[in-house]
Amino acid sequence: KLRALRWVAGACAAALALTGCTAGVSGNAQEGKTMVLSLNQSESHPSYIALTDFGERLKAATDGRWDIKVYPNETLGAQQEVIQLVSDGSVDMAIASGTQLENLNPEFATLNLPTVFKGIDHQISVLRDKGIVGPLFSSLEESKDLTVLGGLTQGDRNLYTVKGPIKEPKDLAGMKIRVQESELHIKMINAMGGAATPMSYGEVYTALQAGVLDGAENNEISYVTQKHNEVAKYVARTRHLVGLDYMLVNSTLLEEMTPEDRAILEAEWQKTVDEHVKLWNADTEKAIESAKASGTKFNDVDKAAFDKALAPVVESALTSDDARELYEKITEAAQ
Ligand code: GCU
Repeated sequence: KLRALRWVAGACAAALALTGCTAGVSGNAQEGKTMVLSLNQSESHPSYIALTDFGERLKAATDGRWDIKVYPNETLGAQQEVIQLVSDGSVDMAIASGTQLENLNPEFATLNLPTVFKGIDHQISVLRDKGIVGPLFSSLEESKDLTVLGGLTQGDRNLYTVKGPIKEPKDLAGMKIRVQESELHIKMINAMGGAATPMSYGEVYTALQAGVLDGAENNEISYVTQKHNEVAKYVARTRHLVGLDYMLVNSTLLEEMTPEDRAILEAEWQKTVDEHVKLWNADTEKAIESAKASGTKFNDVDKAAFDKALAPVVESALTSDDARELYEKITEAAQ
């Protein structure tokens, strides 16, 4: 037994410092570790700041047993690849957009629908309501070893284009608009009048610059932190959806935490969500100001025309009883 343990210790020491090592302790309580968290945002993005603070508070509250190291800028990979790494345990945690989870369990799509959330507060209250999201958040544990700890807002998403302004769906005719890798969002942009082009986040800047894309859709903070404002100068305030990111954690790792440490993790996570919303609102204002200063032109759109174009997309996604029920619970939570 001793020899086996020594072997595990040796393998751990030899393993990449980046990923830490959980070999040989599966099913047992873990004393703690520095968890590796993958993020595709830059260091100035509110998610990076709130998640770094999350790690610091967790470390203090567990007397140094548990800590989080955030790897920003897709250094560990784009979201689609990183989800796989969290699933197999080589990365501990990741922030992934709801669109990516839709590819693992179609029921996530209901929360990715245009117009489903009335605003950030509505969205956060839904994310905290276990009666609504509980089954969804644990739905990937058996098959993928992934637990959804909760969500962070992506705020309102708007359209932006190299040529503009875009005021109504027909203005988008023939324009290649980047979407996340999601069937639903492909349908969404096509319905809004554009030609949807799925692509990972980190590739968008170059594609806009090279003319492979005519535009994209995102929140103002991503628009500025990814420097898309340098290449796409027209923002049409479509506000077609309130986007949603999830905090994914490897389920085996969570099970290995002592109940006390796991409770601390959950409590610190809830504080992280609150801090993130505050940062989000302040940084959105700052992003708009800095975009304007860099020459971006913001314009309002014919909202009724876009809503009309989007209504069939919402309807066609709500064909199953489960999806309809989830949608209704979300809608009721807004009242
Ligand atoms: C937002 C979101 C990311 C997502 C990105 C995208 O920035 O927070 O999780 O990857 O949009 O459009 O791909």
